[in-house]
Amino acid sequence: MGVADEVQVAKLPAAIRTRRLTLRRVRLEDADDVFSFACEDIWMRLLPEARQPYQRRDAERWVARRFLAHWPTEPTWAIEIDGRMVGWVGLNIEPEHAQAELSYAMRPDLRGQGLATEAVRAVVDRVFLDTQLGRVWGRVDPPNVASVRVLEKAGMQREAVMRRAFVRQGELIDLAVYGMLRTDWTPRAPGA
Ligand SMILES: CC(C)(COP(=O)(O)OP(=O)(O)OC[C@H]1O[C@@H](n2cnc3c(N)ncnc32)[C@H](O)[C@@H]1OP(=O)(O)O)[C@@H](O)C(=O)NCCC(=O)NCCS
Repeated sequence: MGVADEVQVAKLPAAIRTRRLTLRRVRLEDADDVFSFACEDIWMRLLPEARQPYQRRDAERWVARRFLAHWPTEPTWAIEIDGRMVGWVGLNIEPEHAQAELSYAMRPDLRGQGLATEAVRAVVDRVFLDTQLGRVWGRVDPPNVASVRVLEKAGMQREAVMRRAFVRQGELIDLAVYGMLRTDWTPRAPGA
């Protein structure tokens, strides 16, 4: 069995519990929550389908795309607190390269409490526990310090800067690449 086959037979759980959060599959009913907080600029740039002004159908489209995506290679967990979707963590898995790229966001009024870090760490743990993937990585706009910190606190290190690699609001920006290998990962107690 090749690396890709081993990765494909592994299953990432649809539900993950952490100390403060429930992570579960995105569902169509999440559109209202997404719409209520997705109008913020920094969030908008993560949603390729989004237009200005952000409309409810943009949220519906985003939720539908995440809901319909192929779970083994494109899982997205809604981050839930008190029954409301307050953020998300997604993976884009390349089985043939045994790696997964992370993306994530948190509702603006809940930021700065370590919640995104808690969710990202939980997903990274599941990747290394439940799959044969050897690397998790993320791309970040270097001035997005909060996102850089999330990746660092999850155990990643800066590996490279891709110069003028992404167009945001009509401007070419650099992207920093952060990554961790299975050998960089320290297992934690579940839910810690
Ligand atoms: C990035 C994001 C998910 C972080 O969510 P969060 O729940 O606030 O993250 P955490 O609380 O776990 O960690 C944030 C860290 O950034 C730090 N931080 C936040 N703003 C900062 C700033 N302007 N300067 C320096 N540090 C900052 C916090 O102090 C914290 O680090 P610390 O624990 O070392 O003190 C959130 O800001 C977000 O949704 N941003 C928009 C979407 C986005 O950029 N996603 C990532 C795409 S690459």
